[in-house]
Amino acid sequence: MTTLTLSHDEGLLAPSLRRIADEMDRAFDRLLAEPADGRARLYQAMRHAAIGGGKRLRPLLVIAAAELFGVPRPRAFIAGLAVECIHVHSLIHDDLPCMDDDDLRRGKATVHRAFDEATAVLAGDSLHALAFELLADRGLHPDPAVRVELAVSLARSAGASGMAGGQMLDLLPEPSIGDFEAIARLQRLKTGALIGWCLDAGAALGEASEEARRSLRGYARCIGLAFQIADDLLDVEGCEKTAGKRLRKDDAAGKPTFVSLLGAPAARAQAQLLSTQAIDHLADFGARAELLRAVARFTVDRDR
Ligand code: IPE
Ligand code: IPE
Ligand code: MG
Ligand code: MG
Ligand code: MG
Repeated sequence: MTTLTLSHDEGLLAPSLRRIADEMDRAFDRLLAEPADGRARLYQAMRHAAIGGGKRLRPLLVIAAAELFGVPRPRAFIAGLAVECIHVHSLIHDDLPCMDDDDLRRGKATVHRAFDEATAVLAGDSLHALAFELLADRGLHPDPAVRVELAVSLARSAGASGMAGGQMLDLLPEPSIGDFEAIARLQRLKTGALIGWCLDAGAALGEASEEARRSLRGYARCIGLAFQIADDLLDVEGCEKTAGKRLRKDDAAGKPTFVSLLGAPAARAQAQLLSTQAIDHLADFGARAELLRAVARFTVDRDR
């Protein structure tokens, strides 16, 4: 039974992940062509971070959600590129010495190690700005109101009311954020907000009904939390070489996580439950949501 489920998902998910990874690499290669002037180093740093690596799960979520409503892939792809820009920006800054002080990301040296801190800050800033430039592109949607809606919602998901706000909470000493609800809120902001945007962007591009958007929001809430619990479990149990980043750091840094609060077995059970609940939210979409179901299972079963 387990084997059947896994091989079924692999048939569905693996080619989709390979395709999006290849398309993202090619798009960033085009967008970040190195200029022949003093900014070359900045572009090299952006390319180092954005090309060649990462699961590209957020762009895949945008595309899978958009597909439910018949949105042409090139449109959804632009939204996927925008959210990946924000995500890579967040990773570059998350790895800085003033934050998690990491030297390995996506199997390579972190940007501030391969270049220097100032260049890493600027590479993160530039990717952040690029996200909003992409969302202003007419190719995203012919109606400017839809483009503005997506830009505003991405700003909220990336900034103080979303990812950056969650990163702030993550830096607080553990005792100030020690209970289940407080950690869930931290993770909803830090990781959940951007993941939520992906599903909602797909629905907005497809001008989906309020009911469909609600279902996708429920799915996103569950996988967003499950995704960060899986990341925290990886930190405790994963393999650095496979994950492509340093592990066994959260406990030493006093990070408040479900693993520190509940212990690994209960945290894993919580993540599995959330993955099942995420799938329950997709009932009305029938067979069209198979890819999103596979993503929900992958979110908690992953080893990277
Ligand atoms: C890592 O995200 C940071 C978190 C929000 C937990 P991913 O696990 O999606 O990282 P990449 O994009 O695959 O490198
Ligand atoms: C970071 O969470 C989430 C971001 C917003 C980048 P972590 O600090 O746990 O991510 P990793 O483990 O370094 O990828
Ligand atoms: Mg961090
Ligand atoms: Mg980190
Ligand atoms: Mg982590």
